[in-house]
Amino acid sequence: HFKAVIFDLDGVITDTAHYHYLAWKALAESEGVHFDHAFNENLKGVDRMGSLNLILAGSPKTYTMEEKLALAERKNNQYVELIATMSAADLLPGAIDALAAVRAAGLKIGLASVSKNAFTVLDRLGIRDRFDYVVDAARIANSKPHPEIFLNAAAALGVAPGDCLGVEDAVAGVASIKSAGMYALGIGSPAVLTQADRVIPSLSEFRLNDY
Ligand code: G6P
Ligand code: MG
Repeated sequence: HFKAVIFDLDGVITDTAHYHYLAWKALAESEGVHFDHAFNENLKGVDRMGSLNLILAGSPKTYTMEEKLALAERKNNQYVELIATMSAADLLPGAIDALAAVRAAGLKIGLASVSKNAFTVLDRLGIRDRFDYVVDAARIANSKPHPEIFLNAAAALGVAPGDCLGVEDAVAGVASIKSAGMYALGIGSPAVLTQADRVIPSLSEFRLNDY
């Protein structure tokens, strides 16, 4: 009964979530801030400067805007290096089948990632043409958990938010989908994604008719 499915990218379609983790961990530790997987959950779906601010909140030092921009650039340079060799082999299990199933059912397909590297990643994976609309993160003012990015995708697809299914691996992302008034399908653990309407471990378990 949905008219569109709007996917997150990092951690849903491909495992760039791990590359973001590695690059943030290196940066945090260079600033003397402890960083682990539990803390990283708070950064998923949060934009670059927002993530940096969350990390630097754990440091006693105060940073100028210039210093922060330099740190964000350093993290991004490392991330860009990590994604440079990606290919279709980096698609997560079930991702292509899920995209194909949504297409076959005649629904619109959107991508809502706050990553400014999303277009690069889609091109490396070779799946850009599978989406009817890809949000340009540079034009989004409010990061997840704000609903802006999912609402922007729904509007561009010409579908009412209540007719959209959003797919997310991040706590902030699920919150964004819910406050946009959409059905939230979580990818990961129900213990983490408590706000999701339904949680499955990966897109391998994606069954459009179940939601
Ligand atoms: C996604 C990821 C975050 C990442 C953010 C910004 O939301 O889940 O981990 O920080 O995009 O990505 P960018 O590539 O613009 O730094
Ligand atoms: Mg994600």
